[in-house]
Amino acid sequence: MKNILLSASLMCADFKNLGNVLYTLESEGIDIIHVDIMDGHFVPNIALSPIIISSIKDATYLPFDAHLMLDDPSFILDPLLDTNIETITFHLETIKGKAFRLIDWIKKKDRKVGVAINPETPLEEGEYIYPLVDKVTIMTVDPGFTGQKFIEEMIKKIEKLNRIKRENSYKFFIEVDGGINRESFKKVIESGAQILVLGSTSLFSSKNLKENIEGIKGIIKSYEN
Ligand code: DX5
Ligand code: ZN
Repeated sequence: MKNILLSASLMCADFKNLGNVLYTLESEGIDIIHVDIMDGHFVPNIALSPIIISSIKDATYLPFDAHLMLDDPSFILDPLLDTNIETITFHLETIKGKAFRLIDWIKKKDRKVGVAINPETPLEEGEYIYPLVDKVTIMTVDPGFTGQKFIEEMIKKIEKLNRIKRENSYKFFIEVDGGINRESFKKVIESGAQILVLGSTSLFSSKNLKENIEGIKGIIKSYEN
């Protein structure tokens, strides 16, 4: 029996109504709040920030995971670690020459570390980091924007990552981010995804969050066995 975790992509939420959104996500059994942080350079968009995290963090008991889409994640680590955030996920493409220092920095503060991998980046490039991280995120769209189409070729990549994980007894969770919805749930779960980031085309596809969550949970339950 698999236990799939659901992570809510906060940038897709109705910000006019954020207190109620957080309450519903928690009470309806969402597992994680996913916070996209961008620099307008690594990806051509700007989204959320450590200031937003500190202002809403104590409105919910749910753990937060910051997805850093930044050319240089180092400059934001201290402000992020000053919040009570549980997980920090940087991009493999942005940590050349500083990966071990960054991981150490985060681990020393007792937080979890994730690494996200762009669709065109081969898994082999991350081999050195898999034994050290708590989560590996396969980007199933090009990062930076909500509402993009799931890239089918990523299924093979998830399967391959799952094989690497099993063969080496690595402990990391496998997460998928981008275009995850009822069209893609079955294939990503069957190929080994354990955490699903849910955004504009699933969890936040309509205002009725409670109904959306019930629908998603119902579908996912049938794939968990
Ligand atoms: C994309 C972000 C995602 C995004 C997912 O760059 O990392 O977290 O919000 O949302 P959808 O489901 O709209 O692709
Ligand atoms: Zn994300």
